[in-house]
Amino acid sequence: MHSFKGNRPYYAVIGDPIAHSMSPEIHNACLEHHHMDAVYEAIRVRSDELPNMIEELRETGCKGFNVTIPHKVKIMEHLDEIDPLANEIGAVNTVVIENGRLKGYNTDGLGFFKGLRAFYKRDLKATSILILGAGGASRAIVKTLIKQGVRNVTIANRTVEKAHGLLNGSRYGQAITISAAEHNLESFDIIINTTPIGMYPNTDEIPLSIRTIDSGTALIDIIYNPLMTEFLKQGRRIGCTVQNGVPMFVHQAALAFELWTGQEPDSKIMEDIVIKKLGGKK
Ligand code: ATR
Repeated sequence: MHSFKGNRPYYAVIGDPIAHSMSPEIHNACLEHHHMDAVYEAIRVRSDELPNMIEELRETGCKGFNVTIPHKVKIMEHLDEIDPLANEIGAVNTVVIENGRLKGYNTDGLGFFKGLRAFYKRDLKATSILILGAGGASRAIVKTLIKQGVRNVTIANRTVEKAHGLLNGSRYGQAITISAAEHNLESFDIIINTTPIGMYPNTDEIPLSIRTIDSGTALIDIIYNPLMTEFLKQGRRIGCTVQNGVPMFVHQAALAFELWTGQEPDSKIMEDIVIKKLGGKK
């Protein structure tokens, strides 16, 4: 149950399940670090409770909230305004409340992009990117990459029609099968896994075979639990550079924090908490 901490300004994350969310810890650490008199809490909201909860948040002084599974799409019909990129992605993960008005944003795609830019310094326009999966996370990433100028995006998915649907005729993208991707690994500079394959507890699974991959290929997994998926482990053994899902998670949170407070948080604080919680060394 939610508590709506007294009359203190507050932020929240709504979703179901929500108990294991790391968002309260990282946002509260940054609120404290920046000496802001506010608190961030996790609220479990079932689908049938969503409309009432939104009104409650609006009326009890909530200044903004994150939205996670299963509400990222449904929330959109309850908002007063939606940012164009969120509209294009078709999902909202961050809501800003100002003067009782709710405006929705999507920081997942841009969060991913910030992590990518820190990891891969070459010109992205000339880069060929393979994306595995065609769900919500893939959608946020693909739309953002194309908006940021990437011109060669390939989506490989178990259900190819879903990948076609996501691209919606875009001239910058193509859809292929997983097996076709496996047979053409050499044609991609970056491979990004957006499927849940390899996520805890199924940590020995891999989204596609990378036995024939070139060591010059960069691999990114948006999974952060475990910190090193089988996909990244195998890639690293071959000599590929790899990035896990921590940067995307941290940057989407930092972008939300900035939308709410106008202040860019120290994302290192967030990163250290996440890595420590997941049993990493840093
Ligand atoms: P999210 O919204 O978090 O991205 P999702 O909507 O469940 O997650 O999408 C997961 C993606 O991973 C989908 O593209 C899914 O493939 P389908 O479109 O064919 O369903 C893919 N995926 C999930 N589990 C998979 C599995 N065991 N094998 C192959 N693909 C899988």
